[in-house]
Amino acid sequence: NEGALWGGRFQGAPADALAALSKSTHFDWRLALYDIAGSKAHARVLHSAGLLDDGELKGMLAALTTLEADVKSGAYGPAETDEDVHGSLERGLIERAGTALGGKLRAGRSRNDQIATLGRMYLRDHARIVARGVLSVVDALVEQAKANHGVAMPGRTHLQHAQPVLLSHHLLAHAWALLRDVQRLVDWDKRAAVSPYGSGALAGSSLGLDPNAVAADLGFDSAVWNSIDGTASRDVFAEFAWVSAMIGVDLSRVSEEVILWATKEFSFVKLHDSYSTGSSIMPQKKNPDVAELARGKAGRLIGDLTGLLATLKGLPLAYNRDLQEDKEPVFDAADTLELLLPAVSGMIATLVFNTDRMESLAPQGFALATDIAEWLVRQGVPFRDAHELSGAAVKVAEGRGVELWDLSDEEYAGISEHLTPEVRSVLTTNGSLNSRNAQGGTAPSAVLEQLAALEGQLGEV
Ligand code: ARG
Repeated sequence: NEGALWGGRFQGAPADALAALSKSTHFDWRLALYDIAGSKAHARVLHSAGLLDDGELKGMLAALTTLEADVKSGAYGPAETDEDVHGSLERGLIERAGTALGGKLRAGRSRNDQIATLGRMYLRDHARIVARGVLSVVDALVEQAKANHGVAMPGRTHLQHAQPVLLSHHLLAHAWALLRDVQRLVDWDKRAAVSPYGSGALAGSSLGLDPNAVAADLGFDSAVWNSIDGTASRDVFAEFAWVSAMIGVDLSRVSEEVILWATKEFSFVKLHDSYSTGSSIMPQKKNPDVAELARGKAGRLIGDLTGLLATLKGLPLAYNRDLQEDKEPVFDAADTLELLLPAVSGMIATLVFNTDRMESLAPQGFALATDIAEWLVRQGVPFRDAHELSGAAVKVAEGRGVELWDLSDEEYAGISEHLTPEVRSVLTTNGSLNSRNAQGGTAPSAVLEQLAALEGQLGEV
C-alpha cells in the first residue's frame, strides 16, 4: 500500500483489526499543514547536508507547495488505507514528485520526532488563540468593573454575608485569576518553543542534519538537547492541558456566580436575551445555559488533563505507541476553550446588574460587625475583647430581629462603655468600604489603583 511507511520485513499486510486500531488520520489530519512545513524545513537541512542537490531541493519544495495547496483546498485528503498524517502526506508527495525524489525526504527523521514537533507547533498556535479568548473575558470583567465602580454588594465567605465589598472588586478578583492563566500560557510557550525535530526515532540522526536550523525554520527558539527527551516527553502537552483545565475551572467559578445571581432569590443580575435560553415546556423560563455549559466543560477539561496524565504514567523511555493518545485530549482542550471563551465573554459583557438590590443587601446580615470590632481596636480595646463586644451587639440585634444600625445608643452603652454613639460612623456600607484602603482592599480608591495595576499587567501580555 502506497501510504504505508513500513513493510519491508513483513510477509503480509496487517490485520484489518490492527489497521483500524492503529489509524489516526481522523484526528491527526489537523496537523497536515504543520507536517508539510516540517517537511520543507527538513528538505532544506538535507540540502545543507549535501543529501539533496539544488535541483532536488527545488523539486521537493515545489511538490510540497503543490501538496500544501491541495490540502488547503481539500483536493488532497487522507485515504482509507493511510495510517497517519505522515504516511498520507508522503503518499501525496510521491504522487507529485515521483518515488525517486519523494522517497528521499524521509531520511534522518522519524514519525516520532515529527509528531512531537508538530504537536508543539499546533499547541503554540492554539495557545495564542486561547489566550486571546481569555483576554476577552478579562476585558469584559474589567469593563463591567469600570461601568459599575462604586457599587457595593454583599461580600461572602461560606456563601454567607461576610463584609460589604465593591462589585468592581469582586469582578476584578475573577479577572486576576484569568490574567494569571494568560501569563501561564505565555510562560508555557518558553518550554513549548523547543523543537524535537532531528531527534529521529530516539537517538538523533547520523546524517549531519542541523536541528537548530529546522527549529528556526519552524519558528522555534531552539532545538532539544536530548533526543530521547525530545521524542518521549509530553510534559509540555500535559502542561497545556493543565492550564486549559485551570482556565475551565476559573470560568466555572464566575459562571457559578452568574447562575446564582440570576436566580429569583438573588436577583443580582439579568442575562441578556442573546446569551440565555428558553424552555421547551415552561414559557417563562430564561436559563443561564452559557454559564452552565462553562461549568460543565470544566469537567471535560479536567478529564482531558487526567486522561493524558494517565497515559503518560509509568511509560518507559523512549517513544511508545501509547503516545498516539496524547493528541485528542489536547486538541479537545483547545477546541473546547475556543468554543467556550467567546460565549462566556459575551455573556459577561452583556450582564445587567441590579445595583440597587446589591447595594441594599450589602450591609445586611450583620456584615458590619467586623467594622465595630475594628473601630473598638482603634479606641484601644484589645481585639479579643472587641470581637466579643461586637458579637454581643449582633446577639442583641438578632434577638430583636433588627440590624446593627437599628440598636439604640442605650443598647450599645449597655453592652460596653466603649460602645459610644461614635460607633455609628462605621455602621454604613461606605464607611466600611472606605476604611479598607490599603493595597488590595475594597475601598473605591484602592480598587482604582488595583484597576490601574491590572491594566498595566494586561498591557504586558
Ligand atoms: N501516529 C503516531 C503518534 O501519533 C506517530 C507514529 C509513530 N509510530 C511508530 N510506530 N513509531 O504518536
